[in-house]
Amino acid sequence: MYGQHVFPQGFVFGGATAAYQVEGATHAYGKGLVAWDEHLAQQGRFSADPASDFYNRYEEDLELCERFGINGLRISIAWTRIFPTGIGEVNKEGVEFYHRLFQACRAHHVEPYVTLHHFDSPLEMYRAGDFLNRDVIDAFEAYARFCFEEYKDEVTYWFTFNEIATNALCRFIEGSWPMGEKYRIDKALQCEHNMMVAHARAVIAYKQGGYAGEIGIVHCLHIKYPYDPNSREDIIAASRDDVIKNRLLLDATFRGSYAADTREIMDYLADLSGGKLDIRAEDIELLTKAADLNDCMGVNYYRSQFVRAYDGENDIHSNSTGDKGSSRYALKGVGEYRMREGLKTTDWDWIIYPEGLYDLLMHIKLAYPNYKKLYITENGMGYKDTFENGIIDDEPRIDYIRQHLDWTLRAVEGGVNVMGYFVWSLQDQFSWTNGYNKRYGLFYVDFETQERYPKASAYWFEQLSRTGHLL
Ligand code: BG6
Repeated sequence: MYGQHVFPQGFVFGGATAAYQVEGATHAYGKGLVAWDEHLAQQGRFSADPASDFYNRYEEDLELCERFGINGLRISIAWTRIFPTGIGEVNKEGVEFYHRLFQACRAHHVEPYVTLHHFDSPLEMYRAGDFLNRDVIDAFEAYARFCFEEYKDEVTYWFTFNEIATNALCRFIEGSWPMGEKYRIDKALQCEHNMMVAHARAVIAYKQGGYAGEIGIVHCLHIKYPYDPNSREDIIAASRDDVIKNRLLLDATFRGSYAADTREIMDYLADLSGGKLDIRAEDIELLTKAADLNDCMGVNYYRSQFVRAYDGENDIHSNSTGDKGSSRYALKGVGEYRMREGLKTTDWDWIIYPEGLYDLLMHIKLAYPNYKKLYITENGMGYKDTFENGIIDDEPRIDYIRQHLDWTLRAVEGGVNVMGYFVWSLQDQFSWTNGYNKRYGLFYVDFETQERYPKASAYWFEQLSRTGHLL
């Protein structure tokens, strides 16, 4: 432990959710389809209905927040509840649902932090190419403008997108998400760039609207360490992987353009899959304008990676079952992930490396000094919780969260402006490629009955949030 273990005044202790992972009611109340609906039905492994039935039980979840001192909640709006096909006719029932939800947050003294897009693009937009098609950027801006105006009296904190890189990576490189393609690095980078342009357009629209709140974006970032810090090849491999997952996003967010070396690596990477990037002068103008307007950025952090140079065949499988050791990540001309001796992993092969969060936060401060404020918008541990004699003893999760908060505090003491921490997740919910055996919640959900039960971590988190002291 370090320093005073006390969080700054006003620090937010929150929980996180995402519409598709908690709401259920995927085909109800006028909601339009998203690509995941079709994908999950084709796969037949699990359904996102009713998930944690948040659509009907948000009052109960907000009561739990209030009781356990959770004073912030990340919520996302499902685009297709507002515009069922992504654009055009508005679904009033969906609009009213979010009014009720945001008002209930206020009634329970829980500040909503609202994301406009959390992996749930409308099916029709997906079919038209999603963000690879620039018309979708126009549609997203229209949706964002609608939400800013509609919810201006209820929402103060906005995030445009959740995890642009995860979206691009899982769809175009890992191929594990709907309409997945594998090893198309060019498409992944183009998609990231176009989504950053969409982010910039929404930020500019928000500021032009003269609204009083704050706006930013959430990125999932992991430091990429060379597996052998003395190997030139591993350093290059880590740097290439870093461009795909971190640097492209951070340059676009804070510099408003790509540094020369970032751009050079982007072109190299696109060329590996035989593509060329379409990055226009007007895109850079928008990114530059938005770079000064962002109020904050959300950092989602779960793990770090150790990267070794790799020139073999592409070989990527993700672990979507919780069978330890069943994943592999090796991308020709980029690098392969290797385990460092002595480190632990989760059952899903995610390396537990809390120091990486400190390195990441310090890196942002040093490399992008114009950042204004950060939140840890997601951090938490996927775990196979057991419910025995009315108790859910999730000590490994408590330990995971405690260590990450400890390193967050060290970064705060090192001068990084971090103003909140949101546990992923508030309650157990639907996990994109794992369904329901990968639990993250502070509150256990019995998916048969939809009853909620506080886990040991919820009691631990309550003590933290009420005192601001990390014990
Ligand atoms: C983040 C996402 O990447 O990780 C969440 O924002 C997601 O939506 C979380 O659920 C954990 O990932 P997974 O695959 O373990 O559910």
